[in-house]
Amino acid sequence: MFYEPAKRNHGLPHAPLKAIVAPRPIGWISSLTPEGVANLAPYSFFNMISETPALVMFSSQGAKDSLANIEATGEFVCNLATLDLVDKVNLTSAPVARNVSEFDAADIARAPSRLVKPPRVAAAPCALECVYVETFRPRGRDGVEANAYMIIGEIVGVHIDDDAIIDGRVDIAALKVISRCGYLDYAPVDRLIERERPPGGGMDMKARTPVA
Ligand SMILES: Cc1cc2nc3c(=O)[nH]c(=O)nc-3n(C[C@H](O)[C@H](O)[C@H](O)COP(=O)(O)O)c2cc1C
Repeated sequence: MFYEPAKRNHGLPHAPLKAIVAPRPIGWISSLTPEGVANLAPYSFFNMISETPALVMFSSQGAKDSLANIEATGEFVCNLATLDLVDKVNLTSAPVARNVSEFDAADIARAPSRLVKPPRVAAAPCALECVYVETFRPRGRDGVEANAYMIIGEIVGVHIDDDAIIDGRVDIAALKVISRCGYLDYAPVDRLIERERPPGGGMDMKARTPVA
C-alpha cells in the first residue's frame, strides 16, 4: 500500500505512521507550576539532539501543562521509564487539572533533584536534570506552523543508579527500559546486539574513547 499522510488516505482503522517511526524513547517529564505543583507526563516525541552541549527535546502536540510549566519556570527533568513503571507512565498521561500533581494522583514517590527544582521519579533508574533553552515551532511545507511545540533543554545533571551500571556501561536491557510503539503498544528493551563501527567512523568501542 501507499498513502499520503496529508490526505489521511491509509484506509486503516488507525493511522499507521506512529507505528512506523517507532520504537521511540520516552521522556517522562517532570516540571513545576509557578505555584510549585509537581507535574509528570510521558512524551515519546522525545530525543537527544546534541551531545555538546547536551540538548534534549520533546514535542508537545498542542500547548499542554508541561510546556506552560517549563516556559514559566525554566526547568524540567526527563525520567527514564522502565517496564515495572509502565502502568505509572500510562496513568500520568491522564489529563488532570494543572493544580493536581500526577505524582500524587498516580502514587509515585518523588526524589529531590540537585541542580533544578522539579523532583525526579524516585523509582526511575536514570534522570536528566534540564534547563529550558527554547521552544521551536515546526512548520509544514506550506510554511504554516504545526500544532506542535518542540521544547529544547540543556542537560545540566545526570542521575544514574549505581546498580544500573554494569561493566562501566548503563545496561538498558537489564533495566528493561521501555519504548513507545504505535497504537497502545510499548516495547521493553530486553536484548541488545553490538556492532563495531566501520574504521574511522564514530566511536572506538574497544578503547571506549571518541575517534578524532
Ligand atoms: C507513552 C506516551 C507518550 C506520549 N507522548 C506524547 C508526546 O510526545 N507529545 C504529546 O503532546 N503528548 C504525548 N502523550 C500524551 C501526554 O502524555 C498527555 O497529553 C498528558 O496529559 C500531557 O500532560 P501535561 O499536560 O501535564 O504536560 C503521550 C502519552 C503516552 C502514554
